[in-house]
Amino acid sequence: MNYTEEHEIINAKGIYYSYNGEYALKNISFSLGKEFMVIIGPNGSGKTTLIKLIMGLLKPNKGYIKIFGKEPEKVRDRIGYMPQKDYIARHFPIRVRDILLLGISNKKFIGKEEIEKAKNALEEVGLLNLWNKRFSHLSGGQQQRVIFARAIAKNPDMIIMDEPFNGVDLPSREKILSILRKKKRKITIITVLHNINPVAHDVDKVLLLNKEMIGFGSPKEVLNELNLQKAYGGTVSIVICKEGFCHPLIGDTHG
Ligand SMILES: Nc1ncnc2c1ncn2[C@@H]1O[C@H](COP(=O)(O)OP(=O)(O)O)[C@@H](O)[C@H]1O
Ligand SMILES: [Mg+2]
Repeated sequence: MNYTEEHEIINAKGIYYSYNGEYALKNISFSLGKEFMVIIGPNGSGKTTLIKLIMGLLKPNKGYIKIFGKEPEKVRDRIGYMPQKDYIARHFPIRVRDILLLGISNKKFIGKEEIEKAKNALEEVGLLNLWNKRFSHLSGGQQQRVIFARAIAKNPDMIIMDEPFNGVDLPSREKILSILRKKKRKITIITVLHNINPVAHDVDKVLLLNKEMIGFGSPKEVLNELNLQKAYGGTVSIVICKEGFCHPLIGDTHG
């Protein structure tokens, strides 16, 4: 089946969400198949809020989100989630293996199968040698690769990431990207990014946000000067590379 024929893996319609009576998101609608979607928008534009709504960690005030035809919280075990870095307790005295195993299973007893899945994922990100190490002793890039390994360890049907490359060294970023490229169009991938350029050649859909949805569609449809100005204010330049992809010059300086 062509991936574009499966447009109902996520279906979000007319979502509103407010914190203390102030809207962080207004009237967001999109649907997605086995595609790679990037959510971009300025700081405070509601990107993390949208990710939490997709994960079922928050409930919309209005509208609905269905994933695989169900309520998001009912399908969480099919989703690999990588939260925004600031929200992970990086100094907690926990070992790398436990981070992975806690992500795979909420059962009390961990069996051979879980250990094998965890080891395979850690090997895939190139860090099997850190299995017994304390998480807090790892570099920022290594920590992020471990968190990514946790997200892919249960072989999810969907991966959701919130700014996975913030404060991450280039080799770690490329490692994560090479794994995502292998999974592309086999599963649904959603990521919030500050800077879309590292994946500009990979993405199928862009959701441009500033509380309201300024655009949703292919990069060519969404990434034009008018939309980027609506989202970010001021003028945003766009470079079209020789392969014909759009590269907006936002966020290149901070990561
Ligand atoms: N827990 C919260 N309580 C109150 N306001 C919040 C909370 N989380 C986020 N906000 C506000 O909602 C808006 C969107 O935040 P967020 O979704 O984190 O944006 P982004 O991820 O795009 O930076 C911001 O104005 C932020 O201050
Ligand atoms: Mg955020």
